Parts: sequence; C-alpha cells; structure tokens
Amino acid sequence: MKTLRVLTGITTSGTPHLGNYVGAVRPTVRASRLPEVESFYFLADYHALIKVGDPARVQRSTLEIAATWLACGLDPEQVTFYRQSDIPEIPELAWLLTCVTGKGVLNRAHAYKAAVDKNTAAGEEPDAGVTAGLFMYPVLMAADILMFNAHRVPVGRDQIQHIEMARDMASSFNHLYGAHFTLPEAAIEEHVATLPGLDGRKMSKSYDNTIPLFVPREQLKKLIMGILTDSRAPGEPKDTEGSALFQLYQAFASTEETTALAQAYADGIAWGDAKQVLFERLDAEIAPLRSVYDELIQNPAQLEKILKMGADKARAIATPFTARLRHAVGLRPLDNLTDTRKTAKVAKAAAPSFKQYREADGLFYFKLMDAKGQLLLQSSGFASPKEAAQTIALLQTGGTNALAENPTLLPITADPETVSQALRYFSEAAE
Ligand code: TRP
Repeated sequence: MKTLRVLTGITTSGTPHLGNYVGAVRPTVRASRLPEVESFYFLADYHALIKVGDPARVQRSTLEIAATWLACGLDPEQVTFYRQSDIPEIPELAWLLTCVTGKGVLNRAHAYKAAVDKNTAAGEEPDAGVTAGLFMYPVLMAADILMFNAHRVPVGRDQIQHIEMARDMASSFNHLYGAHFTLPEAAIEEHVATLPGLDGRKMSKSYDNTIPLFVPREQLKKLIMGILTDSRAPGEPKDTEGSALFQLYQAFASTEETTALAQAYADGIAWGDAKQVLFERLDAEIAPLRSVYDELIQNPAQLEKILKMGADKARAIATPFTARLRHAVGLRPLDNLTDTRKTAKVAKAAAPSFKQYREADGLFYFKLMDAKGQLLLQSSGFASPKEAAQTIALLQTGGTNALAENPTLLPITADPETVSQALRYFSEAAE
C-alpha cells in the first residue's frame, strides 16, 4: 500500500548539470521506485518566471529538465510527473494561502531578506529590484506542496525554511477552515554529495563552473580536462583532500574504484591521466542515459504528451480538492445559501480532529476526537512529536488499514467502524 506521499519541484531556469544529477535527480529517481511511496515530481515553471525573463530560455529549460528526468529513469506511469503551469488550481490555491499568511512572515524569508540586505549594504532602497513574485515565492511553493497533501518534501538545505512556512500556512488554514491540509516535512538527503565545479567551488550556475549533464562525449572530455588542479608534476604524490577531481570521481565510482584512484594519487599519477580516468568513469554512467536524452530532445511532441498525461493525473486530485477548498472558504454558489450566523460553529463541529500533546512521562501522544469531542482513539507514547505527527499522517491517508499495521497504537474505542469513518474524513479531505 502506498502510504507516503513524496513531492518535489524543479525550477525550470537552467540546464541540468552534474551537481543536479548527483544531488537531486539520481537519488530521487531511486527513491521513486520504493513501493510504499507515491511520488509527485513537477517542473516548477511558474517559479522560473521569478528569475528568468527570457521566454525561450524558460521553454528550453522545461524541455531539457523534462527530458533529463525521464532519461535518468523516472517512470511517468509509476509517478505523477507534471508541469506546474498545467495545473491552474495551484495559483488559485496560492491566493487562498496568501490570505492566511502574515506579510511579516514573508519579510523573513531568506531569499527576500538576502535581496533586501544586499540593497541596504549598497545604499539602495530596501526593495529595489525586488519583484512581488520573489516576495511571494514561499506561498506559491506552499501551494505546490499542500495541493497534493504531500507528507515529505525532499529539498536542499536552503529550502527548509520554505517547508516550514508551508506547514505554518497549512496550520493557519486548517485552524480557520477545518482540517484540509496535511502538514508537510522537509526531507534532507544527508549523505548525497555536493559536487565541486570546474573551479573547485560548489558546482552552481551562479558560479558559472558547471559541467552540463548531457553534452556530447567529446565536449564532456574537454570540460573535464579543464578542471582546476594544482601544479604538481607527474610522479609527485597528490592530495585527494580538497581535490575537485577526486570528489567528482567519488560521486560516481564504487568504493574499490575510489580506493584505487586514491592509491594512484599517492603514487603520483599525472593530472592528465587522472582526468582521463574520471572522464571514462563519468561517461560510462552517463552515455546510456545520454542516448535516451538525445532521443527525447529530438521528440518534443512525445515529451509534451507525457507531461499532459501527468497533468491529467495531477488534476484528478487538484480539481476536486480545489472545489472543496473553495467551498471551505466561502466561495460558494448562491443558490445554496448558508446561514452566516451558524457557519463558524457548524464548520468546527462537523470535523473530527487529532490533538497532539505531551505527558508528564516526557513522551508525545495524540488522540482522535469525533466532531462532538468524544474520544475515539488514544495513541501510546512516542519519543518525538515528529513520530507522532507521522503516525497521524499515516492514519489520515491510510485509514484503519494503517492502524492495523501499526501495533503501537491503542484504540480505546469499542467501535472500529466509528474510528474508520472518522479517519475517512481525512483521506477524503486529501483526495
Ligand atoms: N524552490 C525549489 C528550489 O528552488 C523548487 C520548488 C518549487 C519546490 N516548488 C516546490 C521544491 C515544491 C519542493 C516542493 O529548489
């Protein structure tokens, strides 16, 4: 059973490079194959507009990134792979979230603050050159995540704050309008390498030191030959520590291969030869992917079709969910008028709810109450609030099935059907 929803977005503002491959594409494609995971991957092209003002580049990057993910093994039949701008419900949700988000919260977002600090340091107006798009970036990102009630969002460290903001927006919305959103968590890949670029600094578009993932073999070789090394002559022992070449090799090679190269360094391998070794190792992994990539790039109609299929799958969730959210906030047909004096109370009373708390024993607990506040389910103690929250998320998506698989829970109610019914409220909410 798929119990865990994982979602991540890739901004379509550039050409995928080796750092993206090792840090994001490769681990994510692997993770997408886990049977218990339901994955959502999308091309964040609305986000690209914040940074890129060149329409041809946005389109080209969308093509290249879509082709890259598919060439690297993402299976569009198994996952939901779509383009953000094919889902008009996302910007609509962004607006609903905008209306429950404090402006002060957005003032504290890293990317916006960095822009303001830079302006201030340069003696400019704080908001000089800052678009409202940059300012609203975290809200659009929250809409991406909350639309699909993702539990887990794999991102880089620089994005953790955005996930926390998405949680806060979800909480505010849930508090006001009922339990519609799952609170997402950031998932940080601790052990994937950050690759150095051609100049030894972190490989990044902003340093202009990248090695594109899919260039022709000859060009890849030329780029690798250009990696910065020190001036040690052939025969002189070389340091693996701080060697960009070595780190790049390590990200692709097996432990044995890596040990062998370390030995060659100690034995004084010439830089030119070490580069040749790196090139062949890289190309061995990339060449089969490259031929699929080249084929896809030649065939944009095919890519378009795949993305449209993904959009259909995504909208099968987003369209009804948005209808529910519109109703929740009061965007409703007028021929079905609600008595405004009663709505607030009715909305609160209609929903079952989870309550999390801590006991004197230091452990974290939760309970499920029905609409009238009757206790339906009482958990046992968890070591951390995170574990408690994850179990709640499991129950919300998996219903009583998840309960059966989870021996740590102690239902105190005598009537499992009542619990099941209450839990169905959450899974329907997520659909
Ligand atoms: N902001 C992310 C980045 O730059 C891209 C992104 C957009 C994203 N929406 C998202 C990532 C939703 C995860 C979930 O890396």
